Amino acid sequence: MNTPTESFIAKIDTSPWAEVGRSHFHESAELHVLGEATYTDDVPELRGTLHAALGLSQKPHAKINSINLDAVRKSIGVVAVYTASDIPGTNDCGPIIHDDPILADGLVQYVGQPMFIVVADTHDNARRAARLAVVDYEELPAILTPQAAKAAKSFVLPPMQLKRGDFKAELEKAPHSVKGELYVGGQEQFYLEGQISYAIPKEDRTILVLCSTQHPSEMQHIVAHAIGVHSHSVTVECRRMGGGFGGKESQSAMWAACASIGAMKLKRPVKLRADRDDDMMVTGKRHCFHYEYEVGYDNNGRIMAAKVEMVSRAGFSTDLSGPVATRAVCHFDNAYYLSDVDILALCGKTNTQSNTAFRGFGGPQGAIAIEYIVDEIARNLGKDALDVRKINLYGRNDEEGRNFTPYGQKVADNVIHELIAELEQTSEYRKRREAINAYNAKSPVLKKGLALTPVKFGVAFNLTHLNQAGALVHVYVDGSVLVNHGGTEMGQGINTKVAQVVAHELGVDLEHVRVTATDTSKVANTSATAASTGADLNGKAAQDAARQIRERLAVVAAKLMEGKVEDVRFYANCAWIAEKSLPFGTVVQKAYMSRVQLWSDGFYATPGLHWDAKTMTGSPFYYFAYGAAVAEVAVDTLTGEWRLLRADALYDAGNSLNPAIDIGQVEGAFIQGMGWLTTEELWWNKAGKLMTHAPSTYKIPGISDCPETFRVRLFKNINVSDSIHRSKAVGEPPLLLPFSVFYAIRDAISAAGNHRVNPPLNAPATSEAILKAVEAVQAAVH
Ligand code: MTE
Ligand code: MOS
Repeated sequence: MNTPTESFIAKIDTSPWAEVGRSHFHESAELHVLGEATYTDDVPELRGTLHAALGLSQKPHAKINSINLDAVRKSIGVVAVYTASDIPGTNDCGPIIHDDPILADGLVQYVGQPMFIVVADTHDNARRAARLAVVDYEELPAILTPQAAKAAKSFVLPPMQLKRGDFKAELEKAPHSVKGELYVGGQEQFYLEGQISYAIPKEDRTILVLCSTQHPSEMQHIVAHAIGVHSHSVTVECRRMGGGFGGKESQSAMWAACASIGAMKLKRPVKLRADRDDDMMVTGKRHCFHYEYEVGYDNNGRIMAAKVEMVSRAGFSTDLSGPVATRAVCHFDNAYYLSDVDILALCGKTNTQSNTAFRGFGGPQGAIAIEYIVDEIARNLGKDALDVRKINLYGRNDEEGRNFTPYGQKVADNVIHELIAELEQTSEYRKRREAINAYNAKSPVLKKGLALTPVKFGVAFNLTHLNQAGALVHVYVDGSVLVNHGGTEMGQGINTKVAQVVAHELGVDLEHVRVTATDTSKVANTSATAASTGADLNGKAAQDAARQIRERLAVVAAKLMEGKVEDVRFYANCAWIAEKSLPFGTVVQKAYMSRVQLWSDGFYATPGLHWDAKTMTGSPFYYFAYGAAVAEVAVDTLTGEWRLLRADALYDAGNSLNPAIDIGQVEGAFIQGMGWLTTEELWWNKAGKLMTHAPSTYKIPGISDCPETFRVRLFKNINVSDSIHRSKAVGEPPLLLPFSVFYAIRDAISAAGNHRVNPPLNAPATSEAILKAVEAVQAAVH
């Protein structure tokens, strides 16, 4: 059982006054609703501001013999045009491997690759001019799909392999086996605010870049290299993003670099804001994956041996494809114990956008494959898929064996058994299964489907050194508090959570605390706000800073109240010694008068992590977050149309810092993941051009796609790891909850063949794909 031990409970502040664990509004909720929250494009433009646009490649793979830019230069309003040779510093914006030119130099590798920058008086004039280039391309053969990349052995990185036990021997022993393939498409991040950077040159070759980015420090370093200055000459600031979803982790860099190049060369502010079409044509998306699998299992459906070969569509450059593949490998197990495994991941180099981070970061792509397999095993054995899922789960914490992941980390905080049991009961899974069977028996055209799928998600960056954060907390003489930390706000509520942590630590109400824009001149060398670690890392760093100030204030308060320092408590806007109290503001003023430092930095590095990239083993995660969801759908087997009738989700946010925000995150992730697996289809034509580059052709879920009955709850739990107030991350893991929707659809399709055959269903399960699968099932059973 995973009931936290007494010692864990003892460490948690149980006093009635608390600023953490409460459902505060998002700190910008009011500004969001009033339209007063400033995004990068809302910052008033300085006098002399110019606007940039990019000239994009029209070929997927070609040598550029020449570019004639005369017409571009002569176009109305154009001030300057820059190509690769004009870049003062390094022509590179690759986050890890340096194979990502800012501007193509002699070679283009996908349709949409930026080749030149146009700077003009207005946004529209710049865009218009950018289309006037005359390019002489010498076309080269293009690879467009991951399967083709695999066949051609075209990869951006060497293969990654994780093996444990003896797959072959166990497969031979297994009484049953399944073998097959699966394709799961990519996904556009579709942040509502597109990529944007506003670069403002300052005195003495320094520059300020306002950038919509999850990774200000990396933007700073890349801009510095691109314009040929040291990092201390570049300040990057991000107040908030209108969504990032991973798409602004590395891929804000090219935009920041181009705006900065223009600004430095012209000594004028330059703004580069992508229109939606350009944004979608230029930037990378979630990696699509192709899988080939073979799995042996026993009569109960327990997996004995599993082998998978996955190849992702990395795109033309490496970007974050390595860590994405690593996370896919580390999540192939999902919530299941796999004793003997052979997992191979390949990063296919294709002539398409360079794919990148997207909520889940390869985790969803790893886990969806094992769910497909478990689903097939159940159907082959005539069992309810939930029973096969249960029999394969990691062991309970007190059970010996069955608790080590294929990469060797012990699963020591498993709550999935209890969590599934609770959801099974509250969702009335068994009763509804029976009702659905009865409905399907009488309904020849409309078929209903049901699925319960679990999630286990590792929290921390696989790359150990990224698990660090810094913060800066100022207490002003009036008692108000200003916080700066290395994380970035993209709507997920990190600033609210960090403010709650600081308020709690200082014992003041949340309205006394304000969080400022992320700024590389305040906290240096920050990690990306990614891997769902934003609140975990920056919350701890801010707590560290606030604690130091509180300790200094405690000395002052003890003196004023004539008591002992160790007896001083801070809560309810006062310092207390037993029943005696002094207002926080009074203590602060006295401290100032006594020349006590009222501000502090803070730092945090997650302990106990290690990862060996060569053997793909270690303990890369600080803890696991768990969840499960049940989805019920109805599918029209004549048209392939479907509806989500009801969804129940239960998510383990540990001791949640802010339940309202966490529930919002679960709801959002659920619907976003559902879009990935159902309606969002990226489609490239034969010439390698992405044709779904606008909302008119790319269908993200709308409000009407949300289920009528949507029951999202948080599982009562406490993190066994010493995370910030024993909470758990919530940003990404719930994106895996709508696997339940995909498998409910597959279940409904399967009903069209009385569950006798496994429907071949790739993701996204668009109406077209569903219809094809229905036809395949009907053909197979006739
Ligand atoms: N929620 C909103 N509203 N907007 C976003 O862009 N990004 C997601 C998730 N939730 C995102 C979001 C992704 S990809 C991550 S990694 C986490 O938030 C990052 O924030 P956190 O680590 O502070 O949870
Ligand atoms: Mo999130 S994909 O880790 O930015």
